Amino acid sequence: MMSARHFLSMMDYTPDELVGMIRRGIELKDLRNRGVLFEPLRGRVLAMIFEKSSTRTRVSFEAGMIQLGGQAIFLSPRDTQLGRGEPIADGARVMSRMVDAVMIRTFAHSNLTEFAANSRVPVINGLSDDLHPCQLLADMQTFLEHRGSIKGKTVAWIGDGNNMCNSYIEAAIQFDFKLRVACPEGYEPSPQFMALAGDRVTLTRDPREAVKGAHLISTDVWTSMGQEEETAKRIALFKPFQVTRELLDLAAEEVLFMHCLPAHRGEEISEDLLDDIRSVAWDQAENRLHAQKALLEFLVAPAYQPA
Ligand code: CP
Ligand code: NVA
Repeated sequence: MMSARHFLSMMDYTPDELVGMIRRGIELKDLRNRGVLFEPLRGRVLAMIFEKSSTRTRVSFEAGMIQLGGQAIFLSPRDTQLGRGEPIADGARVMSRMVDAVMIRTFAHSNLTEFAANSRVPVINGLSDDLHPCQLLADMQTFLEHRGSIKGKTVAWIGDGNNMCNSYIEAAIQFDFKLRVACPEGYEPSPQFMALAGDRVTLTRDPREAVKGAHLISTDVWTSMGQEEETAKRIALFKPFQVTRELLDLAAEEVLFMHCLPAHRGEEISEDLLDDIRSVAWDQAENRLHAQKALLEFLVAPAYQPA
């Protein structure tokens, strides 16, 4: 009964499945651009539980479900019993009898694994303190569209060794690229992810060293959701890790810049970086929609038969 497939991490799929999914994202994008209605998920329902704020994740999943012919329900812990202490396992048992998939944005990653362990339907990680795999689907689709396969390329992660960085480590394993992480001491990615990656991932304190010859540079906010009380300390500490046009100049000529957004101009990126021709942040944000539609198509059974 608990045999549904989930998407809690990039490691939940084989490399072939992941590449297939991002290729499918490109096809679904093309269908939409050509105005073709494609509604395999008619009558299907996605529940979305958000314990943290979101623009892209919410809009892309909600719009994506509607475009595929289904619907999405937005649930905030403020209004559900989950926020009043109903056990996660009970919420999972009940919700998964009513809907066809559940997307969760939460703090502790264990909330996701616990929900998934008790769910009859696929559970999707819409960001946890540890990982943000949906963003990596979009990032990998974006690289493929602009530059072709990322296999064998060099990627530089600049800044905090956070949930996005951990997902880049997983992507380095699954998509077979080299990752250089430049972060301040004490802000390294989790050792469990580093250990998994072996020599595919290297650490440095010097952003200039990290970007040398890189084909993709990516960064993220210095203060993630839930860390707000550390903001001042982090701004001071991370200053040398700001990504600027001059830093991009040290990378490969065809380098792309990505940022999962939201961005703090003047902090992790210079004021003008998103306007640089090498930045693909808006395509990357749009691709959340297309890549996740491919994910939903993969995970959620197609429409019911007419009565
Ligand atoms: N990149 C991303 O997940 O954005 P939101 O927090 O707006 O969903
Ligand atoms: N690292 C950020 C990503 C936001 C999409 C956070 O967790 O807040």
